[in-house]
This record gives sequence, C-alpha cells and structure tokens, in this order.
Amino acid sequence: MVGPGTGVAPFVGFLEDRLARGRTGRNWLFFGEQREATDFHHREELEAHLASGHLDRLDTAFSHDRRNKVYVQDRMREHGSVLWSWLRDGAHFHVCGDAARMAADVDRTLRELVARHGGMGDEEAAAYVERMAADRRYVRDVY
Ligand SMILES: NC(=O)c1ccc[n+]([C@@H]2O[C@H](COP(=O)([O-])OP(=O)(O)OC[C@H]3O[C@@H](n4cnc5c(N)ncnc54)[C@H](OP(=O)(O)O)[C@@H]3O)[C@@H](O)[C@H]2O)c1
Repeated sequence: MVGPGTGVAPFVGFLEDRLARGRTGRNWLFFGEQREATDFHHREELEAHLASGHLDRLDTAFSHDRRNKVYVQDRMREHGSVLWSWLRDGAHFHVCGDAARMAADVDRTLRELVARHGGMGDEEAAAYVERMAADRRYVRDVY
C-alpha cells in the first residue's frame, strides 16, 4: 500500500477489513506527509497494527522534516529488493492519493525497481507491471 497524504485513509480501512476477516497475509504501508509532528494521520491506529503484527512494515517519508525532501518513492527505492521479493511472491500493489505528481512518480519507481531487482529490461518490466494491472494486482485510486 502506498498512501501519502489523504491517500492513507482507505488503507486504514483495508487493514481493519483484513483484520475483521481474519486475513493473515502480510501487509506493508508506505506513508508520506510534510511533518511527522503534525501530519502523521492515523498514527495511533497504524502503530497499533504494527505492534500487533497485523501490519508487517510501515515506511514513512516526512518531506519537511529534513533538508533534502524525501518521498514515498524514495522509501520504495531504499527497500527495493525486499519490495521486489514481495511482488515476486504475489503481493498486490495499491496506490492512493495525489494523481498530479505522486502517482506518476510511484509508477515510474515501480517499473524501475521491477527492472533492477527482477533483472529485466525496461520493456519486460513495463510488461510485468501492465500484467499486474490486468490481473488487478496493481490498483490505483488517485485524484
Ligand atoms: N490537502 C488538501 O486540503 C487538499 C485540498 C484539495 C485538493 N487536494 C489535492 O489532493 C491531492 C492529495 O493531497 P494531500 O493533502 O493528500 O497530500 P499531498 O499534496 O499528496 O502531499 C502528501 C505528501 O506527498 C508529498 N509529495 C509531493 N509531491 C510528491 C511526489 N511527486 N511524489 C511523492 N510524494 C509527493 C508531499 O510533499 P511536499 O508537499 O513537501 O512536496 C507530502 O509530503 C493533491 O492533488 C492535492 O492537490 C488537497
């Protein structure tokens, strides 16, 4: 799940829904906002899911807390080989939030990391990502 800004909201619902249905598959969320102190939406719920083990990983990117901006796609890149291993094992990749810039940058990063860690050329990686979308394993709700 990649849900910066307001895009995190549906993923809080996803996690609750999966918990209620007894789903035991792994869950990983990338969240980004400007400042950790004031903009970490749903922090308590997310940290509770992390503490209980329902959420396996929570990677955050607070863009105004440091001199050099960091965004969710930077975190994706940092953890590219692990992210690739999840995708290779069948993970679904969901993105919610800003359509104007974030969604395109995350899409580009996804293609790059599939190519790099999957050992594919650009065209093969693009076909892999398009197949994920056709199989409803790559779903976006962006606005
Ligand atoms: N929040 C509102 O009140 C509001 C109202 C109307 C419409 N919208 C629209 O709704 C969409 C979502 O807004 P939002 O409030 O959820 O948050 P957002 O504007 O998407 O910002 C959330 C985080 O994403 C970062 N970000 C900026 N560019 C990015 C990129 N290219 N890739 C990855 N992350 C990036 C922002 O960093 P920086 O800001 O530091 O660059 C911030 O840390 C936007 O299109 C926004 O214009 C928002």
